[in-house]
Amino acid sequence: MKKSPSKLPRRSQPVPARWRRDVERVLISDKQIARRIRELSVEIERDFEGHEMVVVSLLNGTVMFLADLIRYLSLPLRLDFMGVSSYGLGTESGELVFTKELRLDVRGRDVLLVDDILDTGKTLHKVLAKLRALKPRRIKTCVLLDKTSRRVEPVQADYVGFEIPDFFVVGYGLDFAERYRNLPFVGVLHPQIYKMATGQALKPRKKQPQAPH
Ligand code: IMP
Ligand code: MG
Repeated sequence: MKKSPSKLPRRSQPVPARWRRDVERVLISDKQIARRIRELSVEIERDFEGHEMVVVSLLNGTVMFLADLIRYLSLPLRLDFMGVSSYGLGTESGELVFTKELRLDVRGRDVLLVDDILDTGKTLHKVLAKLRALKPRRIKTCVLLDKTSRRVEPVQADYVGFEIPDFFVVGYGLDFAERYRNLPFVGVLHPQIYKMATGQALKPRKKQPQAPH
């Protein structure tokens, strides 16, 4: 059964001085993330009880989320990674390229697919098709963040940490041009950073360009 994702915190904590030039505001703090991941792990444990699971995690954005999530899963599991990158012109995401293939055999297994954020859904749509062809017993998907308003493909995750509005966020594994993955919180990137990177003025929020993934 799909439980509703956690609501975003109403009061945000100040951006640490070190990141104030780049990050507009803290959207989700490290403490809020940790609390939510514990809740997700309880749901996942309940659903996967009795079956050895294969956790398939998408590189590189899931590094922190995955590490925190699996340390709370006290179930037998095996771990593997798939590399997915999207190369596009300018700031628009484009063609999806697999940079690392699965090594474990998932046929007949229970798979937990982990990604950092569900945005248009194009990534998970492709990855799910690829995984299904390997004939696992079932696949459940888990994402830390979900931008439902941006969806293009009809993909839903079974476990969602937080539903967020259409902001471009960084930190806790998520990047802009491969930077900011090491921030311990999820923050909204400052518009100034986009201007510098794209050499153009920011469009209104709704049409905000998506950074290369
Ligand atoms: P989708 O294919 O559009 O659903 O995008 C999924 C991928 O795009 C994620 O795995 C991220 O790598 C990247 N992505 C989407 N939105 C953001 C964001 O706000 N910040 C950082 N990366 C993002
Ligand atoms: Mg990613």
